[in-house]
Amino acid sequence: MNVHARPGSLAENVASVLEKLGIPTSAFTAGTLAVRSPVTGEIIVQCVETSADDAKAVIGTAAEAFFTWRRVPAPQRGELIRLFAQELRASKDELAQIITFEVGKIWSEALGEVQEMIDIADFAVGLSRQLYGVTLASERINHRMMETWHPLGVTGIISAFNFPAAVWSWNSAIALVCGNACVWKPSEKAPLTALASQAIFERAARKFGKVPGGLSSLLIGGADLGELLVDDPRVPLVSATGSTAMGKKVGPRLAQRFARMILELGGNNASIVCASADLDLALRAVAFSAMGTAGQRCTTLRRLFVHETVYDKFVPRLTAAYASVRVGDPRDPKTLVGPLIDKRAFDSLRQALEEVGALGASVVGGERVMAAEYPDAYYVKPAIVEMPEQAGPMLRETFAPILYVVKYKTLEEALQLQNAAAQGLTSSIFTTDMREAEFFLSDQGSDCGIANVNIGPSGAEIGGAFGGEKESGVGREAGSDAWKGYMRRATNTVNYGRELPLAQGVTFEVS
Ligand code: UN1
Repeated sequence: MNVHARPGSLAENVASVLEKLGIPTSAFTAGTLAVRSPVTGEIIVQCVETSADDAKAVIGTAAEAFFTWRRVPAPQRGELIRLFAQELRASKDELAQIITFEVGKIWSEALGEVQEMIDIADFAVGLSRQLYGVTLASERINHRMMETWHPLGVTGIISAFNFPAAVWSWNSAIALVCGNACVWKPSEKAPLTALASQAIFERAARKFGKVPGGLSSLLIGGADLGELLVDDPRVPLVSATGSTAMGKKVGPRLAQRFARMILELGGNNASIVCASADLDLALRAVAFSAMGTAGQRCTTLRRLFVHETVYDKFVPRLTAAYASVRVGDPRDPKTLVGPLIDKRAFDSLRQALEEVGALGASVVGGERVMAAEYPDAYYVKPAIVEMPEQAGPMLRETFAPILYVVKYKTLEEALQLQNAAAQGLTSSIFTTDMREAEFFLSDQGSDCGIANVNIGPSGAEIGGAFGGEKESGVGREAGSDAWKGYMRRATNTVNYGRELPLAQGVTFEVS
């Protein structure tokens, strides 16, 4: 599909897709939250914002809905998510269009994002029959010990612009089968994707029939609404995605009230290209991981360590691949790199590239393009920065397509450089030497939450647990046993005998 070829202005296109999804026009025309499309730089809608009082009421309704929902058997809760997956399949194109219009993802990646939602929903349906605890050997005769997992309560979800729908679905699909209610505060840069996703969910809820009102709801607006979720004692878990700076504010506030947190924060992800690497494969993987989503994934490849024996072969090929990539309108199917989200993102890219000049780096790319056509949209050529050593802005996350490249001699040295970043989200190695691959995955290897071999660090599947170490955050989302983060564990000991032996052999006789 070529969304570019649609007649009418971008704002008209957006309105017609939102209407098709059943969203009342007043929700996106009569409000105070202006959404500027990064595609053309024009303001496409004015969304109605949630007031602080309304937000408190929404949280109250969610808390009520939780009491009903937790009593619905888990496989039936899974049925709601099965219907949601069905509705997502039916509206895949519409939702992907909103994502492209609102955050500028290229069409294939926008479809990929909706696919990721379908995948996690399918996963959650299966999970709804697998919320299991263990039984444990008791030290006492005629006693049984076991773990039971219970629904937790309202799950607050705070999401970022760059995965405006998928990250919500990782959290909500799992939270809902676990028996929780959800309140979602999307990025103020992506309220339309949230309205569209919520409308699709509500269609599934109507088909399901017995969903308590407010089981899944939205708070549209700025950071103050996120703070409200973070501070509300009726919200026992907040899962927040965004920058490390945001996490440093949110984390202590949640800890203050002993709330649970899942924080998915910044990344400064690295790949190591070894002497034995399959360079064709590495080239494609590096190109996608570093330039995909215009460098605006938390998993984007930002630091590349290349072995000295292949550096002069690999880096010029990579630079040529960068030059061949089409930067432009994300609605055009030939485009691989769409726009940055806004001027701030562009300014941070320029700032980083200015700083590396003083460090003796050589820079290719980073120039703004299409500025005459769209003065308020920020398209840039992705940049490759060859660094004499790891220093300066290479050690921070700039949410833009900049790939820093450094030459290395030994794998130990490359790993030391990789792990020297404050962040620890994702990483990968390109090698055909099994010793190197296993060393990378070992306790002496990558210190990240995700470590891959012969694929890039981005584009994780939902079946695995997703999240990072160090400044990249706390906890895990999506697959594996990440569901345990959304439930509370009770340890139960049952005495089915007639005596009362005490643990640790303690005696305590009363007459
Ligand atoms: C993010 O950028 O916040 O692994 C999430 C990936 C995607 C998710 C990225 N599945 O790149």
